[in-house]
Amino acid sequence: MVIANQNSSKRGEMAEADLCTSDRAARRRQSARADIRRMVALIAGDRTDCAAAPLVLDKSIYTGRLRHAAEMDGIFRKQPLIAGLSGDIPEPGDALVFDAAGPSVLVMRGKDGTARAFLNMCTHRAARLVEEQEPWRGRLPRVACPFHAWTFDGQGRLVGQPGKEGFAGCPEGARDLVGLPCEEHLGLIFVRLDPPAGPVDATAHLGAFAPVLEQMEPWRAEPVKKGVLRADANWKFALDTYGESYHFKSLHKSTIGQTHYSNRGIYQPVGQHHRVNFPDLSMGELVSTPEAEWPEAEYGGVHYIFPNTVLFFGAVTPGVHFTQLFRLFPDGPDRMICHFAVYAPFGVIDDAHRAVCEEAYDATAGVVQTEDYRVASAGYANMLSAPDGFQVVLGANEPALHGVHRHIAEACGMPLDRTEPAGR
Ligand code: FES
Ligand SMILES: [Fe+2]
Repeated sequence: MVIANQNSSKRGEMAEADLCTSDRAARRRQSARADIRRMVALIAGDRTDCAAAPLVLDKSIYTGRLRHAAEMDGIFRKQPLIAGLSGDIPEPGDALVFDAAGPSVLVMRGKDGTARAFLNMCTHRAARLVEEQEPWRGRLPRVACPFHAWTFDGQGRLVGQPGKEGFAGCPEGARDLVGLPCEEHLGLIFVRLDPPAGPVDATAHLGAFAPVLEQMEPWRAEPVKKGVLRADANWKFALDTYGESYHFKSLHKSTIGQTHYSNRGIYQPVGQHHRVNFPDLSMGELVSTPEAEWPEAEYGGVHYIFPNTVLFFGAVTPGVHFTQLFRLFPDGPDRMICHFAVYAPFGVIDDAHRAVCEEAYDATAGVVQTEDYRVASAGYANMLSAPDGFQVVLGANEPALHGVHRHIAEACGMPLDRTEPAGR
């Protein structure tokens, strides 16, 4: 697999990354042990990581039209968004379509191994170049426009123009594809939809969260299955379901509620991002077991990458990991779309491993769509018809949700205490 970045120093980091796989496996085991210490202490103390106080949110934090417009600009146009993982376009000539944030974007890995993003738009008369919708991905060493067959290479250069004589006088290079800021870092492909907002600086964007992500070696992940989930709810209302275990026992009584504690979890905020992890029931036995006798555990956790991505990493059975990527987008103020994908974190080992990852997709998609997004959709319908001034409350025991709302509000310039009446 080719892992490319926009500058040579990052390529160097990747080469080093490949050399240090066993070190990272050791780091994951250390992180897993540190998590277990914290989770066992929570179980023993009958408590969970908490914020200082509950956070009350006016319903217009979700339903407000002015806030929606501010988020579309301040979050979905200005912030770096994850278009996919490196493993989605592993080789030169591979490409993917990223539609969900608004304009259709074409990400292509050029002959030089660099991933670049362009508007999925012909520079002749604006036709859509790749007509398939996200999550399409495939081989595209060159892209030919379906309208009049102009052709562009993997670096976005116009390389074929039937009837070229009709365009005499157009300067060389003036009709190359419209590029968008793009940077590939740690196996994550970031795109920014608003070029004037500047290039993507993934290192600055991730800050101290980079080492947390790096230990999972996301550049090794191989896609297995992708699809789309939907909720009739504001995108943040659906996003709220990913950050707390308070609902496990009641909403997920036949799945994770059977295997994990409810209302127990560790919360690790890192800048605008965070990580949470929730103890499974077997950890209860460790409360009265000396640590020297604890079994070795696999790293796991739910990683929120600001502003709209949740990366779950975990083991299905000991030694059988998978990565789940949820990318949440508004579909108007009152609906959302989630691009959900399951990856084999270190490549697909064999057919049985692929089948496990496919099962992980099917099982998780079923639970999220029929349980989490079911209550999100019905609750949101309630909220739309609730009187002005209605407020929800995020408990102190739901601290990750506080952080998410505060950082989104800050990034779009709409403080959480700024409310707006319905119908605006
Ligand atoms: S619009 Fe693409 S070639 Fe004419
Ligand atoms: Fe849930």
